[in-house]
Amino acid sequence: MSAVTAAQAAYIVAALLFVLSLAGLSKHETSRNGVAFGIAGMTIALVATIGLASRSISAMGVALLAIALLVGGGLGIWRARVVEMTGMPELIAVMHSFVGLAAVLVGWNGYLEHNEMTGALLRIHHGEVFIGVFIGAVTFTGSIVAYLKLSARIKSAPLMLPGRNVLNLGALVAFAVLTVFFVVRPNVWLLTAVTVLALALGWHLVASIGGGDMPVVVSMLNSYSGWAAAASGFLLNNNLLIVTGALVGSSGAYLSYIMCQAMNRSFISVIAGGFGVEAATGGDEDLGEHRETNAEEVAELLRNATSVVITPGYGMAVAQAQYPIAELTRILRAHGVEVRFGIHPVAGRLPGHMNVLLAEAHVPYDIVLEMDEINDDLADTSVVLVIGANDTVNPAAADPGSPIAGMPVLRVWEAANVVVFKRSMATGYAGVQNPLFFRENTQMLFGDAKQRVDDILRALAPSVGGQREPVDAVPAGAR
Ligand code: TAP
Repeated sequence: MSAVTAAQAAYIVAALLFVLSLAGLSKHETSRNGVAFGIAGMTIALVATIGLASRSISAMGVALLAIALLVGGGLGIWRARVVEMTGMPELIAVMHSFVGLAAVLVGWNGYLEHNEMTGALLRIHHGEVFIGVFIGAVTFTGSIVAYLKLSARIKSAPLMLPGRNVLNLGALVAFAVLTVFFVVRPNVWLLTAVTVLALALGWHLVASIGGGDMPVVVSMLNSYSGWAAAASGFLLNNNLLIVTGALVGSSGAYLSYIMCQAMNRSFISVIAGGFGVEAATGGDEDLGEHRETNAEEVAELLRNATSVVITPGYGMAVAQAQYPIAELTRILRAHGVEVRFGIHPVAGRLPGHMNVLLAEAHVPYDIVLEMDEINDDLADTSVVLVIGANDTVNPAAADPGSPIAGMPVLRVWEAANVVVFKRSMATGYAGVQNPLFFRENTQMLFGDAKQRVDDILRALAPSVGGQREPVDAVPAGAR
């Protein structure tokens, strides 16, 4: 068997492992296996590619490859080890930007390097170069803006340039025209022009999307990065890169689509950089006074409750409050209180963010319900504990002038009592004030969510006799 055949066989095995990985990652119970399949597939792919490449490149080339692997692998391992769960979306956005940049460089290299092709084949090659550079550059700057927004380095509010839809559409038309010219008469100026155009378009597309729609943007960029990788695969004549890119591209597109459905957003509108979304109005009105409470009062409320729903959000992740919350759940359930969790599809900063944290703290799966499963029960609930959630419980979504208008939310205000755990009256990720905080049945419990839940556990202990282990006994590695 020749080296090329062996590499192709290894690529087929790796591609199958990637498919198994995606299948595994789609369920909690099998997600660990999914990760293991992914690692195995990537290891096989890397070994086969390096083995194949090392036969046709110089010693200098091998040395450069080794250095790139060491530096890239080292950086990747370091970042993945130190990243907080809350920093994960930013890390993913940065990684997407690398895929985009790589596709641009592969595209430019494909144009500059000498090749033997002629006629129609050469034209196809130039088409691939142009499309690869375009998708890569859009992904590159789009991901950088997503990173800046997710890490709060720039405002998450949408950039509302006059005629922004015309700008986006114009850029797409210009790309189509330039592609035709480039295929007929390729030159470096056209390639430079499309690179600059795509860099600007990627920046503008993501800058035009508001904070509330960022989850869709992240999965959309995931999809773009897949298509960029597939385009590179065509240029490098690498089947595995084409298959992997297509898998990432289509699964990212599907995830974006389901997220749009969950958030009542138009898929086309979001991928077209907020196409058709009008500038939001209002937001400055006086919402009245809020009411504050303390841990002892909340403990009293919980003692007398028959049913409790906990709706966690990004603040639970920041505070790492899932462990005392799991303990509170255990104690309340042991005393006959019905406790359930209501999870909004975009709570936190990652799809499934809250589910992962609650599973980590051993909250039973069967009491963790999706928004649609719990919403109709909220009106019959004695107490809702809103732990560090804001946009996902914001009744302003029903106001057509709001930036989050139309987004389905957890209707926590329908419960008899609502307690909101947060540190201040600050707005959530979308930057929209929350009228929930000013409702008559809402009380604010200010402070770090973990500390406040710990206070409640202490206040509950004498009366309900909680047998709890100190929360600090949870091994640090498990947090
Ligand atoms: P957010 O609207 O982000 O609000 C989180 C709240 O937690 C903040 O108002 C903050 O208020 C509070 N908080 C922060 N640290 C805290 C702490 N240590 N203790 C207590 N409270 C704390 O949360 P959400 O309801 O989960 O909504 C998620 C938002 O992120 C949505 O707009 C969504 O579109 C967006 N987003 C989601 C994703 C995915 S895929 N899930 C990805 C990107 C963006 P204080 O500062 O006053 O404490």
